Amino acid sequence: MGLISAEVIETVRLRSDIVEVVSRYVQLKKKGKYFTGLCPFHQERTPSFTVTPDKQIFHCFGCNTGGNVFRFLMLKENLTFVEAISLLAQQAGIAIPSNGSPAEREKEHKRNRLRQINSLAMDYFFYMCQHHDAAAGARKYLADRGLSREILERFKVGYALPNWDSLLLFLKEKGYQAQEVAEVGLAIKTENGKYYDRFRQRVILPVWDATGRVVGFGGRVLDHSLPKYINTPETLLFSKGHLLYGLHLARGAIREKGFVIIMEGYMDVITAHRFGITNAVASLGTSLTREQGRLLMNYNRNIVIAYDADAAGVAATMRSLDLLQELGCLVRVVNIPDGKDPDEFLQKQGYQPWENLIDQSPSLIEYKLQQAVSKKQVRTVSDKLEIMQQVFPSLSAINSEVEVEENLKVMAGLLNLSPEAIAGEFKRHKANAGKKWTNSDNIVKTKHNTLSNIKKPDAREKAEAGLLRLIIEDPSLIETVIAKLGPEPFSSSNYHKLFQQVQKIFNKPDYQLAGLFNYLGDDEQTLLSYLLTLEIPGENREQMSEYVECISRCNRQERRTMLLQEISKAEKSGSHWHDLWNEYILLRGIAEAERLGDRERTAVLLQEYQQLIKIDTWKHPREGSDGS
Ligand code: GTP
Ligand code: MN
Repeated sequence: MGLISAEVIETVRLRSDIVEVVSRYVQLKKKGKYFTGLCPFHQERTPSFTVTPDKQIFHCFGCNTGGNVFRFLMLKENLTFVEAISLLAQQAGIAIPSNGSPAEREKEHKRNRLRQINSLAMDYFFYMCQHHDAAAGARKYLADRGLSREILERFKVGYALPNWDSLLLFLKEKGYQAQEVAEVGLAIKTENGKYYDRFRQRVILPVWDATGRVVGFGGRVLDHSLPKYINTPETLLFSKGHLLYGLHLARGAIREKGFVIIMEGYMDVITAHRFGITNAVASLGTSLTREQGRLLMNYNRNIVIAYDADAAGVAATMRSLDLLQELGCLVRVVNIPDGKDPDEFLQKQGYQPWENLIDQSPSLIEYKLQQAVSKKQVRTVSDKLEIMQQVFPSLSAINSEVEVEENLKVMAGLLNLSPEAIAGEFKRHKANAGKKWTNSDNIVKTKHNTLSNIKKPDAREKAEAGLLRLIIEDPSLIETVIAKLGPEPFSSSNYHKLFQQVQKIFNKPDYQLAGLFNYLGDDEQTLLSYLLTLEIPGENREQMSEYVECISRCNRQERRTMLLQEISKAEKSGSHWHDLWNEYILLRGIAEAERLGDRERTAVLLQEYQQLIKIDTWKHPREGSDGS
């Protein structure tokens, strides 16, 4: 756990009241055992965000985010785990002993030095750009692109001299080794052990993390030579897929305007700022990553995609749309005319036409429709049906009836059909598609709309949630559960992961519910905070048997379905199927006895079944099944 011991982490957690910390950001109202308020992680009008003081956790039923006090600060302030702890420790007056191993201390020391190098390099490039004779061309280039001194200052736009080692020499004077400069990505080591500057004769664009620390650089050529850009490679500090260019400058404006615009490139964002559009960030490269999407979600879920209008931009837009919708964002797309990018459009057309574009930006569905229609001529009925099939999954993910209806009208217009005909098709689609889609659009439904809107959990899901809830509360139940259901009692993977973590740490002397969060990844933290909001009905062990029984029943049912398939396969291939058949008959008998409420007979048959499958008792039911 980095530099800080688990014991200190727990002390800090116990001394930091989550209600107090959250109250700094959210107005909380007391409601019985918990507090509610408007969620700081997504836009909402009615509170679905809760803080439970006795468990020291928060959970939002709207965007399904939750965790302990550390997670709250990490999300809210964009801190790392260690940073969140340090901040709270400081506020609670707890000194964090630097008791990390020498290796860990060494690493922290190194990180600090690398940060200093980045920071010095940024100042150096900026200074050179402003003052050096050799940067005259760069200054002209930037002026020609319309960048004022004030904007250059805001984005610390710099220039790397043409020499092979000017930055290296500068940093050497400041006491840094060439090897460190290479480690942070600013120098490159040749095969024979010499170092040279990575960035030469390029305009330099520093890249910051969300908290405003320089973590890397992009360098643009001044002419048409290739590559147009080079970037800092992945380093200890720089991970391109986890960053959004300009986010640290956009945070305030995103909050004020209530949405964020994602663009492709550095220059788009810089120009946007020049025109007063300060809620813009860039994903730097064409594809938005999931991490970038998550990062944005921390600030706002209303997202406008303004990628270039070329083929690559459209493809990237389509990919990003699905990803963002899956994360629970509300997405619109700006259609920039004539294949331009936001930079060019703004320069040529100015602020007001851009605002008009934003106002008219189609919703995700409309955009998908437009794309589908523009790709091929739509004439025949089957053309139209095909397009509907492409768009319906996204439409199904929308909760608001009004919004669905609006979209159906738009579809009707575009496909030249009556709204009733489209609505009828949509209804049919929903009825047929059932729950079976693996389409990402559908995930939205289960993951991000309020929990009450989630499709009714089936018996297994309910029992698994309940069982895991119990285990977390009372890990001594684990042994019995494993004895009854085997080492993998849970069918979904994040349940299983959470279960494994609990197993790993519950016998530590300081096992604490809210402390458990510190050992978990994002998805499991969310699951855990959700589970903790479930009430525990009844007495633990009694309740446990019910859940275990329910899960076994589901396992048996799945096993029966699978047996039928195997039997028919075996019949076809002429192999031995009588054992499978016997097992199937027995399972059917058990189900029958259960249905009739004949407890005695159920017990007898169950025992018989245990014997039949002998040692494999628990493994057996899921063997070979795909778990679905
Ligand atoms: P200008 O051409 O100066 O307007 O830059 P731009 O920011 O508009 O660039 P463009 O739209 O061509 O590309 C979008 C983003 O993709 C850039 O900001 C870079 O982050 C990245 N990119 C573009 N070209 C290259 C390249 O040659 N190499 C790398 N690594 N990244 C590139
Ligand atoms: Mn451009």
